[in-house]
Amino acid sequence: MAASGSGPRVLLLNGPNLNLLGSRDPHQYGSVTLAEVERRVQALGAELGAGVECAQSNHEGELVEHVHRARHLDGVVFNPGAFAHYSIALRDAIDAVEVPCVEVHISNVYAREEFRHTSVTAPVSEGYIAGCGPAGYELGLRAVLTRIGQRRPR
Ligand code: DQA
Repeated sequence: MAASGSGPRVLLLNGPNLNLLGSRDPHQYGSVTLAEVERRVQALGAELGAGVECAQSNHEGELVEHVHRARHLDGVVFNPGAFAHYSIALRDAIDAVEVPCVEVHISNVYAREEFRHTSVTAPVSEGYIAGCGPAGYELGLRAVLTRIGQRRPR
């Protein structure tokens, strides 16, 4: 769904398997669907004067293209899913667009398998939220809005 209004515009982007939220491993990810997550983040955006566009893809190249399109927006809240752990292409895309990106993981990846302890995308992101459940996306929106116009040098 497209953002509207004259305030900041943020892309809420979700990677592989996150379309299955609500039914996928509720112990890790809760029982809220992706549609509900998107609705909540858009409602918060409306409250805070920001427009929120939402996208999800299971394909690395499509996610890269969504990140490229975010060049024309003000910020990104991104759960790259498993790609966070190894996609150099996504890391480079985030680095290239120079738009603040806050990485979100629903689960506490550090309490899980060791391969989830590495994020190749986090070092090029402005912030990182993990283990807060689906509410992490709303925290991510609040965080990215504070970063707009003040990207830290890396
Ligand atoms: C996840 C954590 C990843 O390790 C996993 O591959 C996902 C979801 C999370 O939101 O907790 O797909 O990004």
